[in-house]
Amino acid sequence: MKLSCTLKLSVAVFAAAMIPFCASAKITVTVSHTHVESHPDHIGFEAFKDHIEKNIGDKFEIQIYPNAVLGSNDRVFGLVKTNSVQFMAISSSNIENFDSLYSLFSIPYLFTSRNAYESFISDPKVIESLGANAKTDGFRPLGAFTAGIRNFYAKFPINTVDDLKGKTFRVQSGKTNADMIAAFGATDYLIRFNDVYSALKQGVVDGAENNELALVDQKHGEICKYYCYDGHQMVPDMIIGSEEFLSKLSPEELKIFQDAAIEAQKVEFAAWENSINKAIEEAKIAGVTFTNVNVNEFRDKVLPMHKSILKEHPDIKSLYDKAVEYNTKYN
Ligand code: GCU
Repeated sequence: MKLSCTLKLSVAVFAAAMIPFCASAKITVTVSHTHVESHPDHIGFEAFKDHIEKNIGDKFEIQIYPNAVLGSNDRVFGLVKTNSVQFMAISSSNIENFDSLYSLFSIPYLFTSRNAYESFISDPKVIESLGANAKTDGFRPLGAFTAGIRNFYAKFPINTVDDLKGKTFRVQSGKTNADMIAAFGATDYLIRFNDVYSALKQGVVDGAENNELALVDQKHGEICKYYCYDGHQMVPDMIIGSEEFLSKLSPEELKIFQDAAIEAQKVEFAAWENSINKAIEEAKIAGVTFTNVNVNEFRDKVLPMHKSILKEHPDIKSLYDKAVEYNTKYN
């Protein structure tokens, strides 16, 4: 029997809600993300589960829901704030309209190397600073998955920045993304991650921007045959936990959840390179061309955004300065 999408979702949410009452005396901790099970975020969350269950498995049972079965990022974000879902991976872009500190990562060309970026998001002080508003936000960041480098891809070749002009690109939520697309002379179209394939197929958008995994995991490479290495953003998937849930843990339990997030992050980083290389190979077989472009041309268009974002959100200045320090240190 085939279940409709809505019915499947209701069953999953109902099951997630019922488990604490019917399984055992254990507390079920629900973890959600939008990716396929081979994705590094999922592999990271498996390590998160292992760490917790190894240490306090007599009290907590971790249930991971991949593929957005519990809903889109926006929907699950609301569920985390009310403690209906305890943990999720969510792009920092999806948080910035809610807490402007997270607009930091949407700044195009903020980092000058992957090494600087990954070291920055591995710094516990950075994660702590991002959690400054946890009490009022209703969620707390415990770590960050890399999610790689975002590049444009489309149904047409992108060889220079001018090729973006007049075209429509899918963006994820977050005001800075819309501003960035406008600065490139293109039009933005906000679409949920798991709906992008249909939007590309139906011609609602001419292209999108993401790391290489989207070409294969989300099948965007079936439609977009041109992937262009402009490297405009490095936007992490934040590992966030419900503040209500975390605040009720004992200090010992909290430490185990925090360590589990750090472990998840390490495992995700380690899995990233291999997953990307595999995705590139698969995409090439499917006919996708990968092009290196003159990155300076792209950077010049959006560099003024650094000043304007800092002016609009002075609260991100100290994190911004720290990112610049990391650029110097790790270049
Ligand atoms: C990346 C990221 C996702 C995000 C997606 C998007 O793939 O890992 O968390 O949702 O980009 O563009 O929506």
